[in-house]
Amino acid sequence: MKKGRTAEEQKIVRRVEKNGQQHLFQFWDELTEYEKDILIKDIQKIDFELFKIFLNLIEEPECKERDITLPTIITVPETDFQRRKEREAYRLGCELISMSKLAVFTAAGGQSSRLGLEYPKGAYPVTPIKKKSLFQVHAEKILYMQRRFDVKIPWIIMVSETNKEQTEEFFNLHDSFGLDKKYVRFIQQGMFPAFDRSGKIFLQEKNRVFLSPSGHGGTFSALKDSGAISWLARLGVEEIFYHQVDNVLVKILDPVFIGYHVINRCGMSSKCVMKKAPKEKVGVFAEENGRKVVIEYTELENLKNLRDGLGAESFTAGNIAIHIINIGFAKKLVSKGLQLPFHMAFKAVPYVDGRGRKVVSESPNGHKVETFIFDALRDSKNSIIMEIIREEEFSPLKNKSGDASPDTVERDQICLYANWLVDAGIEVPKLSDGKPRYKLEVSPLYAPFKEDFLNRVPKNTTIDEAAYFE
Ligand code: UD1
Repeated sequence: MKKGRTAEEQKIVRRVEKNGQQHLFQFWDELTEYEKDILIKDIQKIDFELFKIFLNLIEEPECKERDITLPTIITVPETDFQRRKEREAYRLGCELISMSKLAVFTAAGGQSSRLGLEYPKGAYPVTPIKKKSLFQVHAEKILYMQRRFDVKIPWIIMVSETNKEQTEEFFNLHDSFGLDKKYVRFIQQGMFPAFDRSGKIFLQEKNRVFLSPSGHGGTFSALKDSGAISWLARLGVEEIFYHQVDNVLVKILDPVFIGYHVINRCGMSSKCVMKKAPKEKVGVFAEENGRKVVIEYTELENLKNLRDGLGAESFTAGNIAIHIINIGFAKKLVSKGLQLPFHMAFKAVPYVDGRGRKVVSESPNGHKVETFIFDALRDSKNSIIMEIIREEEFSPLKNKSGDASPDTVERDQICLYANWLVDAGIEVPKLSDGKPRYKLEVSPLYAPFKEDFLNRVPKNTTIDEAAYFE
């Protein structure tokens, strides 16, 4: 039977054939009308011009020579001079927040494939006692800052087709965690097809193309296409605080970071943490042609022939995916039609084979392409990298078990709050391994940062059971 029910659909079929992807229609005759609609819609999402670029990437040589050196970093302050600079930055950051110049952006469009969830990662219950979700923790930090500075802070959450509905439902179910819905906005990033070694796009069902989120590099185009960037500009926002949904300890709207970024007139800035081991799965900061760059951990081994005897292990400033992006910088990027570089990963992709059977591949069998937000750093003439202390600001949820898992995320929160209590002069009972005996949790509405906690916690507090501060 002829593929394509209308002249328009037949045009699509011809385009698919011209691009050597006719297998996408191999089950057409078996499909119901409804299933055909879905297949056509999926295919319409493929940009075949872009796809030709992806195919060229398969041929690209693995290790390109790059003129890379170590980046300059604002380190954790140790001297009085550095502490004075930090206070200056803090004051400016606070002033800008109180003038409504800031918005928050959360990248939450990923598939959380390593965690194997059926729902968005942001909905995962992470806090030790109240089991608040990542979204709730972030929302409460924003709510606290709104109250403290008596302003409305716009919050943009980037989702993808795979988790948009579920994320919005989750927010509705929780009444946006007490935030004014007018200031919470969801924007959707794009999807790219996955393909095999020979460049054939995978089907994940007989009528579904295998499409996966296009990476958080889609932030800029999503900001533009959704109209969110104009919305922010209308609200008078000048800087966007960007972070990933998976880091429970993120200091949302850290005034010091905002201050340093603005003092140095940066287009885009970053926070970093010293890597705990060479193999830790974080990207690293470097400098290339006078610009800050991130080299992804998957690409680090490919670095060869570096200057000054540097090797991959010399790069220790880990990317924790926290940035500030100036709105003018973002607007300029989108208006000049920015195309961030494509990164290709070879991964295990489940697919439907020629006989219609579902195949779950144990080993990598297909290419997935993504763009990364940090590649926009190259376009920023000025850019600072501010070092943070891991225990205070970085504990991501990535894996089911082991490193960066629900267990470590819970443990890191308890240890952080124990440190705050100790700094407040309150005794925290310990186990023989030095870890706190009881579960501890501090609501972001009580105190999102240590300074707020120290100002607030009663000095006569005793900890003789699990304690929740609210
Ligand atoms: C990421 C960074 C890495 C950094 C580490 C810190 C990338 C490519 N690498 O690694 O440099 O050191 O975090 O934790 O990001 N996301 C989207 N859309 C997508 C893909 C991902 O919004 O298309 C979001 C996810 O929801 C998640 C975040 O981006 O919040 C990170 O994605 P993930 O794949 O977990 O990145 P990592 O490999 O851990």
